[in-house]
Parts: sequence; C-alpha cells; structure tokens
Amino acid sequence: MALSDFTGPDYIAAWTRDLDDRWPERSAMADCVVRTLVEWRDEWRGRCGTIMGDERSVSEENGALIRLLELGVGAGGLAHTVLSALYERVESGRTSAVEYTGIEIESALVQHGRKLLMAAGHRNACLIRTDLKGDTWPRGLGPFDAVFTLQTFHDLGGVDALEAVYGQVHGLLTPGGILVNADFVVPFEKDDPNRPRRLPVETHENLLFNLGFVDFTCGLQRGKMACMSAMRV
Ligand SMILES: C[S@@+](CC[C@H](N)C(=O)[O-])C[C@H]1O[C@@H](n2cnc3c(N)ncnc32)[C@H](O)[C@@H]1O
Repeated sequence: MALSDFTGPDYIAAWTRDLDDRWPERSAMADCVVRTLVEWRDEWRGRCGTIMGDERSVSEENGALIRLLELGVGAGGLAHTVLSALYERVESGRTSAVEYTGIEIESALVQHGRKLLMAAGHRNACLIRTDLKGDTWPRGLGPFDAVFTLQTFHDLGGVDALEAVYGQVHGLLTPGGILVNADFVVPFEKDDPNRPRRLPVETHENLLFNLGFVDFTCGLQRGKMACMSAMRV
C-alpha cells in the first residue's frame, strides 16, 4: 500500500509498520545492509588511517570522513540505524565522522526524516526531495563512499531503470566505495512478465559487472528479498 493510503496523525508510522508486517524479511535485510556497511567501513578505515584524536582528524583531508548516500529513504529508520552504527566517539566529544545524504520523492517523508535525524543528533544529514527516475537527480551530488538502499529500486520500473540507477551510483561512488542494495528479487503474481521489475539476483550481478563493479556479494536471501553489494574500483 502507498503512503497516500494511510491517514491520521501517525500515518507515516502506520505505513512503515504495514511494510514490516507484510514483508517480515525486511528486518533481516536492514540488518544485512548495516552489517555490510560496518564491515566495509572497518576495512576502508584500515586503508584510510584510524580515526582518533581531535576534530581535524575526522575530516575529508585525511580521508576519514565517510560520505553516505541513501536512495528511497522512507520514514528514515534505516538512515538512523546506519548513522548510529557508523558514528564515531572521539576524545574531544561526540563528533560525527559521517555525512549523510538521503534521496526521497515524497515531501512528507523528507520532512519526517529531517526531523527524525535531527532529533537523534545526526548533524551532518541532508535529505533531498527528488525523483530517482531520469538522469537529473545526481547533478551536483557526490562523491560518496557508500550508497545504500532498501526496498526501493523495484519501484523504478524494470531492468532499464535499474541499469540506469546502477550506472548513476557508479558515477557517484569513489574508488573503493560500496553499493548495498536490498530489494525484492522474486516476482509477485501481479507483475507483468513482459515488464518484470522484481529481478533475480543474477540480473543484478550481471548489470553491476557490466558497469564495472567488482566483488558482487549476495549477503542474504530470505523470503522475496536479497541483500546485495558490490564495490567500485
Ligand atoms: C517501500 S519504500 C522503502 C522505504 C525505506 N527504504 C524502507 O525500507 O523503510 C520505497 C521508498 O522509495 C521511495 N521512492 C519510490 N520511488 C522513488 C523515486 N522514483 N524517487 C525517489 N524515491 C522513490 C518511496 O517514496 C518510498 O519511500
């Protein structure tokens, strides 16, 4: 059901609950996205140098700042969990080593996400209302070290749209950067077989390989969903 199907003061929470109820595998997918990003961060940090000491060390200059992009933010729950997991506590006080940009088409969700992340103390967070379909959304954005997305790309319309967005992500990622996409990989009965939009893991792997991504991994497949990642060289 779409966000517009819900009413009342807590309609955004009700919409998110409905997604979680209908697709119980979402929770394991979200965990897989977070785990994959944390594991990537630990390896990436080893290459960039350990984050410690004063605020200057947590900066782009020494490569320690992680620039994150989320596509299809929804209510912001995954953003909050990812930011909390990647957050660094440094000796001079709480300083974020993470910058977050979220893309979302629904204005109400953008506003909701902004409030949620601000209330949680995530200062370096920016939400942008724009459409992931088409070629304009990446303009002026990036580069990013990690891009993640949950249950969103199937909404873009099919294999051509998926290839386009994967290409755009490739263009926005830094070398060594990671893409993590958890989404439906099994078709629904109602889907038009001539225009599939919930595509199998192999299709994702092939598209990513052809675009130059490496180290494709399907970290988890459960229910109708899979959590997949690939790196940019
Ligand atoms: C099923 S929801 C998942 C939301 C969130 N990622 C989660 O898992 O809770 C898909 C999200 O993608 C957003 N979305 C769908 N099509 C989009 C588009 N063309 N551009 C930007 N956002 C889009 C929707 O508004 C919605 O918030």
